[in-house]
Amino acid sequence: MSHLVVVVASLAVVLLARCAAAYPWHLCGTAANFTANTTYQANLGLLAAALPKNISSSRHLFATAVVGAAPDQVSALALCRGDANATACSGCLAVAFQDVQNQCAYDKDAAIYYDPCALYYSSNATSLASMDNVGRTNRVNNQNVTSDPGRFNRQAAALVSATADYAAYNSTRRYASGEADLGVGGQFPRVYSWAQCTPDLTPARCRGCLAGLIAKMSRRFTGSVGGRSLGVRCSYRYETYSFLDGPVMVRLAAPPSSAAPAPAPAVGPTVPTPGAVAGGESSYYSILIFHLVASWHP
Ligand SMILES: *[C@@H]1O[C@H](CO)[C@@H](O)[C@H](O)[C@H]1NC(C)=O
Ligand SMILES: *[C@@H]1O[C@H](CO)[C@@H](O)[C@H](O)[C@H]1NC(C)=O
Ligand SMILES: *[C@@H]1O[C@H](CO)[C@@H](O)[C@H](O)[C@H]1NC(C)=O
Ligand SMILES: *[C@@H]1O[C@H](CO)[C@@H](O)[C@H](O)[C@H]1NC(C)=O
Ligand SMILES: *[C@@H]1O[C@H](CO)[C@@H](O)[C@H](O)[C@H]1NC(C)=O
Ligand SMILES: *[C@@H]1O[C@H](CO)[C@@H](O)[C@H](O)[C@H]1NC(C)=O
Ligand SMILES: *[C@@H]1O[C@H](CO)[C@@H](O)[C@H](O)[C@H]1NC(C)=O
Repeated sequence: MSHLVVVVASLAVVLLARCAAAYPWHLCGTAANFTANTTYQANLGLLAAALPKNISSSRHLFATAVVGAAPDQVSALALCRGDANATACSGCLAVAFQDVQNQCAYDKDAAIYYDPCALYYSSNATSLASMDNVGRTNRVNNQNVTSDPGRFNRQAAALVSATADYAAYNSTRRYASGEADLGVGGQFPRVYSWAQCTPDLTPARCRGCLAGLIAKMSRRFTGSVGGRSLGVRCSYRYETYSFLDGPVMVRLAAPPSSAAPAPAPAVGPTVPTPGAVAGGESSYYSILIFHLVASWHP
């Protein structure tokens, strides 16, 4: 019995080391590797040279490409955030190709996520064509809402849902940003959101993709000041600080105050310490380590 526990514990440590790395977040596939100086590597190199340039001239800063023929065929998808400009997008992708080939060396399939861009490549062109939201990962901000978390959670959920609606139905780019008022006297004045799909998804498919992520929001992020649910086809994020560059598309007013408002805390700041917020990326860690691995090849 105790032997089994030790085995399980060390397995967890190995998976952590492999997957819970800091920003940018990468997911290495587990299905197949290629070797140095092969056609597969050359095809990946062609993508790395062309895609960062090509995406900057695409209408929605989105690009897919398939290079070569099976078994050396590589397909790739790249998407920049709706508020990124072409220069930042192209630069982000160039770095992404470098980083992911270091982090997932000789892996035939991999995904990597930055704030301005995401990149995925695979030896399985069907996976790209299927439009499945592969390469999913969830990141939670480990700072907790301490004052009236129920109210915060409800408003964050309402905002994320409204942002997903707007991204799917009101934007040809399938992108939306949002801001919701949390009311006077709370721990945080506002909560901010982002939702985006690849622009080749229909509105219904985009909303369905986001709904799949949002359905698990309360399980993953309840009580957290921030969280992001990332996938190759759709993603969303919320934070208590503004992390967006463009205009706010969705605005929610403060919810009606509850019958018995929570008293102000006797001690402690009512705003987060700068370090906890400014270090947004570094304060993230991964929940559901096993989920990362399991979701990679659903
Ligand atoms: C791919 O390479 C990694 C690291 O060298 C190794 O751990 C893994 O077993 C390989 N996977 C396959 C499917 O050969
Ligand atoms: C791959 O090619 C490079 C440059 O030609 C060479 O330096 C390297 O040794 C080769 N690696 C393998 C594993 O053949
Ligand atoms: C990049 O764009 C050029 C010109 O439109 C096109 O010929 C090429 O196939 C594209 N390459 C990739 C990898 O998308
Ligand atoms: C593009 O975005 C980057 C990062 O936000 C910014 O530093 C840069 O000034 C922008 N460039 C243009 C031309 O707007
Ligand atoms: C390729 O992807 C498709 C769709 O995701 C999947 O059904 C299929 O099993 C994958 N093939 C391989 C060889 O992994
Ligand atoms: C936030 O809450 C979670 C779950 O209750 C707990 O594991 C974590 O340590 C808390 N984080 C902080 C910074 O207190
Ligand atoms: C779409 O935009 C219109 C006009 O700005 C707005 O009234 C409507 O609520 C938006 N729809 C969604 C789903 O956000």
